[in-house]
Amino acid sequence: MDSKQANNVKAPILVTGGAGFIGSNFVLEWIAAGKGPLVNLDKLTYAGNPENLISVADNPAYTFAHGDICDAEFVGKLLREHRPRAVVHFAAESHVDRSIHGPEAFLKTNIDGTFTLLKEARAYYDGLEGEEKVQFRFLHVSTDEVYGTLEPNDPAFHEDTPYAPNSPYAASKAASDHLVRAWVHTYGLPAMITNCSNNYGPHHFPEKLIPLMIANAQKGKPLPVYGDGQQVRDWLYVVDHCKAIMTVLEKGKPGETYNVGGGNQRTNLQVVNTLCALLDELVPDSPYKPHAQLIKYVADRPGHDRRYAIDARKIESELGWKAEESFETGLRKTVEWYLANKDWVEHVTSGAYQQWVDKNYGSREGVAGGAR
Ligand code: NAD
Ligand code: DAU
Repeated sequence: MDSKQANNVKAPILVTGGAGFIGSNFVLEWIAAGKGPLVNLDKLTYAGNPENLISVADNPAYTFAHGDICDAEFVGKLLREHRPRAVVHFAAESHVDRSIHGPEAFLKTNIDGTFTLLKEARAYYDGLEGEEKVQFRFLHVSTDEVYGTLEPNDPAFHEDTPYAPNSPYAASKAASDHLVRAWVHTYGLPAMITNCSNNYGPHHFPEKLIPLMIANAQKGKPLPVYGDGQQVRDWLYVVDHCKAIMTVLEKGKPGETYNVGGGNQRTNLQVVNTLCALLDELVPDSPYKPHAQLIKYVADRPGHDRRYAIDARKIESELGWKAEESFETGLRKTVEWYLANKDWVEHVTSGAYQQWVDKNYGSREGVAGGAR
């Protein structure tokens, strides 16, 4: 690193959505690694939780900015004030089931919000000079769901797999990816995209499969498996995803896309059974043992993608990133985290959470209100 680069490391990075699941893990990893100052722009929707970031709230390297990525004036002012060396864009509506019940918020934040961020980042980038301009990066955090669904013997998604999004969530993320691509090609914004598979780990909101199953099992509530439970997801421990994003930020090439995944394909039923076995072991005096007896098959998700799998060879061979956590060790760490942080679960599942559970599970046959 030369002296100009070293100087610029003192400039912050701007993270959006840093109070959510992956964003908060990223913020904590970044600060712990001493990678420099970080500004976190977050609207604090139901999915954003300041409790995730209590340990860094008073750290001089951390600044919180409460706002909306759709608010151009706010975003522009933040960029001019903090002069970040990079933008890492996590902020999104992220839950597929919610996108089925109410797609509007997904179009607003994921498409309009990304457009606003790109527009303001471009204006900011155009005003930079010299080394600041050379080093600036925009990293858009996206998903494997933009590629659609795979048959059992199809090869895993690679960076050239055609986009075929199936849910309103996936379509809104695909649209945002296309906007980023256009800003690279038309305006020369030095942006990169990562498309990652399913994450799991601490701070995962209990509307998603893994934390929902852990939370319900502890209370003896039904474990609602959609359809036949044979859908396949490719699981990655969240800290590995955060490290992949840091790697792309440091070594990635502007204009490139990188697929991120850990090579852990499992059916939903396998995941739920593994969680139940872990809970049987870690909570030996539970009155609900064996936890697998709580499994209930319920009505399937409309348009449910059957299988996702990621081919991560590009980021591995070109940038030297590789997942470190195995699914077994990562899942054990995750269950231990939820068992040690029952207050966190209580806080995020009070209030409006119950309305969501009623809306999503109330009408699914097989649970008859029991998942609530
Ligand atoms: P999350 O729902 O847990 O968190 C989203 C965060 O964005 C919250 O803090 C929320 O308050 C904030 N936010 C929402 N709308 C906003 C707005 N208009 N302005 C500012 N902030 C806003 O999401 P997550 O699971 O952490 O996902 C983060 C990103 O990673 C998303 O872009 C998602 O598409 C992508 N992704 C997620 C996964 C996964 O398995 N969770 C996998 C691949 C990619
Ligand atoms: O693949 C990456 C994507 O992974 C991210 O882009 C999304 O933001 C993230 O939410 C996740 O999407 P999924 O739809 O795969 O995750 P979810 O945890 O909602 O569901 C995982 C699988 O489990 C899916 O096949 C649906 C099923 N499921 C989910 C819930 C909530 C159930 O069987 N029962 C449930 O109650």
